[in-house]
Amino acid sequence: MEQLKVVIDGIDFIANQTVKLDLRLDLERLSKFQPGQFIHIRVNHGTEHMLRRPISIANIDIEKQILTVIFKQFGDGTKALAQLQPGQLLDVLIPCGNGYPIDELKISKALLIGGGIGVPPLYYLAKKLVEKDVEVSTILGFQTKDDVFYHDEFNRMGKCYVTTNDGSYGSKGFVTDVIEKETLDFDYYFSCGPKAMLKAVQNQLNHFPGYISLEERMGCGIGACYACIVSSADKSKYKKVCVDGPVFKVNEVIL
Ligand SMILES: Cc1cc2nc3c(=O)[nH]c(=O)nc-3n(C[C@H](O)[C@H](O)[C@H](O)COP(=O)(O)OP(=O)(O)OC[C@H]3O[C@@H](n4cnc5c(N)ncnc54)[C@H](O)[C@@H]3O)c2cc1C
Ligand code: FES
Repeated sequence: MEQLKVVIDGIDFIANQTVKLDLRLDLERLSKFQPGQFIHIRVNHGTEHMLRRPISIANIDIEKQILTVIFKQFGDGTKALAQLQPGQLLDVLIPCGNGYPIDELKISKALLIGGGIGVPPLYYLAKKLVEKDVEVSTILGFQTKDDVFYHDEFNRMGKCYVTTNDGSYGSKGFVTDVIEKETLDFDYYFSCGPKAMLKAVQNQLNHFPGYISLEERMGCGIGACYACIVSSADKSKYKKVCVDGPVFKVNEVIL
């Protein structure tokens, strides 16, 4: 992991309160990122927002030499980030955490399940799986039509189901409703989203192997502060999401 300043190449709103941020990076660094890893962004250089904000890698474009993150404006930190302009420098720690270990898995069909701000990391994951000739199906859950993003992008890589809580886009309900209704063929699943969603998915798919990615609140992002701990299913009692995760095998942590 290293700390460096990167140039902002572009910044745009792509859905309700949802920002796509493109960062310029060199080939050597870009080629080292795994899907599921995150970057830890310092919001500004003053005394305000001293803590960094963790945001997952949503895409890497090797040709254009761009790393993309997609984030939702929640509080002061992400609101300040949304106001940045192309050409400005951003202080980042990269790459952070452990990603999805897809190179170690024998896999032919994958099911990706994302909810809200858990959707972005699944895009880069889907891209890497497709590169490995894995057949990818995706289920994306959003609150309303205004929150939906990247439906076409996921559709280009395989079957993509979208569900919204109020039915204003796709089917009405939750990602778990799609899992229940559709006939889905897969040998591994990968999921990222709010804890309640991950728990429901885990219960529903308890006979399948899979990986989940947690987006806990974080402090240091480098294993030093214990702000991000979750209960572990093994003897180690707890895991630090920032260094042991954010990707875990299902049942490795207690949600
Ligand atoms: C590994 C990891 C990857 C992440 N990837 C993404 C991503 O790709 N896109 C994205 O939009 N967000 C992502 N997040 C969440 C993102 O880091 C937080 O939304 C952000 O730090 C909030 O900062 P803030 O200053 O805007 O909000 P704050 O002012 O700190 O909080 C504002 C409100 O948001 C809530 N909140 C803050 N952080 C979280 C969180 N992690 N989970 C749930 N609620 C929270 C707070 O409880 C509060 O209600 C990720 C988090 C982690 C740990
Ligand atoms: S954020 Fe500090 S230990 Fe994980």
